[in-house]
Amino acid sequence: MKNELQWGGRFNAAPDEALLRFGSSLNDDLVLAPFDVICSRAHVVALRNGTIIDEATADALDTALAHVAKEIAEGDFTSWAETTDCEDVHGAIDRRVRDYAPAAGDRLHSGRSRNDQVATTLLLYVADRAREAETIASRIVQHLVATAERELAAKTMLAATTHWQPAQPILLAFWLAAGAEGFLRVVRRFHRVAEDAIRFCPLGSGAVSGSTLPLARREAAAYLGFTAPSRVALDAIGNRDVACDLMHAVARALIEASRISEEIVIWATPAFGYVRLDDAASTGSSLMPQKRNPDPFELVRSSAAGAIGALTAALGTLSGLALSYHRDLQETKAHIISGTERGLAALRAFAQALPYIDFQRERMSTHAAQGYTVATDVADALIGAGLPARAAHEAVGTRVAIAEQEGRDLNASDITAIADATTCTIHGAPLDAAASIAAKRTIGSTAPEHVAKALASIRVELASLESPCNHESETTD
Ligand code: ARG
Repeated sequence: MKNELQWGGRFNAAPDEALLRFGSSLNDDLVLAPFDVICSRAHVVALRNGTIIDEATADALDTALAHVAKEIAEGDFTSWAETTDCEDVHGAIDRRVRDYAPAAGDRLHSGRSRNDQVATTLLLYVADRAREAETIASRIVQHLVATAERELAAKTMLAATTHWQPAQPILLAFWLAAGAEGFLRVVRRFHRVAEDAIRFCPLGSGAVSGSTLPLARREAAAYLGFTAPSRVALDAIGNRDVACDLMHAVARALIEASRISEEIVIWATPAFGYVRLDDAASTGSSLMPQKRNPDPFELVRSSAAGAIGALTAALGTLSGLALSYHRDLQETKAHIISGTERGLAALRAFAQALPYIDFQRERMSTHAAQGYTVATDVADALIGAGLPARAAHEAVGTRVAIAEQEGRDLNASDITAIADATTCTIHGAPLDAAASIAAKRTIGSTAPEHVAKALASIRVELASLESPCNHESETTD
């Protein structure tokens, strides 16, 4: 009978079954199946063009691989693979090809090691997921910018907080622009990862030092969409850098989403009442009939932790490994895949949940000046009149304390008192939120014209990043 393992000739005894099971990554890496098939087809190109196998064998391998691809697409491959004792998805595909094309199948692995196969397959997976993540992040930016434009027109305001304490009045559009700016950086990060993933193709590096067979590496790399074959086999087979970059980008995207989610969760409380979540994005309590919980945003808020953990585990696995392939690298695959798959699910959910937020314009705007959020503007007016910043701060702070004691906002009497105390003539100290916002002058401020400029510029930058492949994957979303 045929040896079902991909090795074994030099052994006299079969491997211990429990250890064989322990060594299997099949449960973790089945998601790589479609990418391994493409990678294997590229290897057929390298073998065919290098005239290492004849045309008939190459055609038979291609046909068998097309069968496997179909099985994968239809979901049958996974159920079959799970009944095998294969070490990994790569071995499972090799075995399936030999089922379909027994004679030709025995030649598929010519000049190939699982080391270059795994490295290449992983890069194809990374490129694919980075492109998908870029598309999701672009959608998030687009949504935030469009919502910001709408709220800019509606002039919705709120009190920005620092330390969660009332700080200064801002436009809701400004807050949304801040989210868009953060997610634009996320888009850029994924864009770079997708580009880096397909630079150097490891396929044809063999186990560690290259091959004595005349593999057509350039053609194989081009077939897969890489820029060029990798330059140093020893590096290529053990390099997981771009995969870690993807995980870092996923973690950063989720941190961004997590921070926005935190604010939405708090804003959805009756005490704030700044947002109302649509029923479609809310959940109830099994005990308390009145409850209306913002679960999707809470789950997104926590999702970054898993992505950070997976990245940390992968980095930890790599640290201290000598150059070349070591079985430890199999573990990085598990962390990369689980971190990425779970992370992208959370990112998709965040994109899905955002449109369900209904901003309560009235309530936000009426609270925008509460908590003495215009105090800084009054101090600025004093500085404008020539007073040193410390004296201005002190003078306004004194009146804030008095107003607080009297249980009221700052008003015209405070301005008069401050003017008397400082012997300054105060012009245009805004006492309401709208005036405060309108008075902002600096580039990047919350003044409507600056917010409008920021949004326009974010739109331009996003458009410059969007590539044709983004649009393709958008339709499959
Ligand atoms: N199961 C291994 C992995 O997924 C395959 C590579 C094995 N290479 C080796 N030289 N034993 O990483």
